[in-house]
Amino acid sequence: GNKTLNAKLVLLGDVGAGKSSLVLRFVKGQFVDFQESTIGAAFFSQTLAVPDATVKFEIWDTAGQERYHSLAPMYYRGASAAIIVYDMTNLASFTRAKNWVQELQAQGNPNMVMALAGNKSDLVEVRKVTAEATQAYAQENGLFFMETSAKTATNVNDIFYEIAKRLPQA
Ligand code: GTP
Ligand code: MG
Repeated sequence: GNKTLNAKLVLLGDVGAGKSSLVLRFVKGQFVDFQESTIGAAFFSQTLAVPDATVKFEIWDTAGQERYHSLAPMYYRGASAAIIVYDMTNLASFTRAKNWVQELQAQGNPNMVMALAGNKSDLVEVRKVTAEATQAYAQENGLFFMETSAKTATNVNDIFYEIAKRLPQA
């Protein structure tokens, strides 16, 4: 079919995990070494074709700084998908990601498609979070998990594509 589906998607995760970089890579095909920390949130849109639909993502790239935490519900409320991002070289960012998953499970849309992105896979030699640990966590919590690199573009389109395929009616 050729139906178009609008899907609100929110990115959540710790400061510096790479949320903005993943969006910049997905929407514009770019990467910058000195990406500025997001203030509040930023909006982007991008369409993606899956076999049965064209999905128009309306993307909210939130700010990881703790002082913006209270704004997050505005962005995840009504969202049909979320990408929770952590930096695989930073254990604290994985802990923060798990806290976001808990918050979404408690307060978010129960049908939300949730993806966990272990970002900065280009820095795999200095990883602090193993793929096995995250995979087990993801399975227990009904998320799907991919390791990504906004820098090299590894798995960036793929994670959005996997989300698009999992949306109801897509
Ligand atoms: P906040 O907006 O503060 O919440 O951070 P963020 O999650 O949006 O992180 P951002 O995209 O600003 O990236 C933080 C830093 O990590 C930047 O200097 C990026 O260049 C770098 N970075 C992001 N993704 C990658 C990646 O895949 N690999 C490497 N090596 N660096 C990355
Ligand atoms: Mg940002």
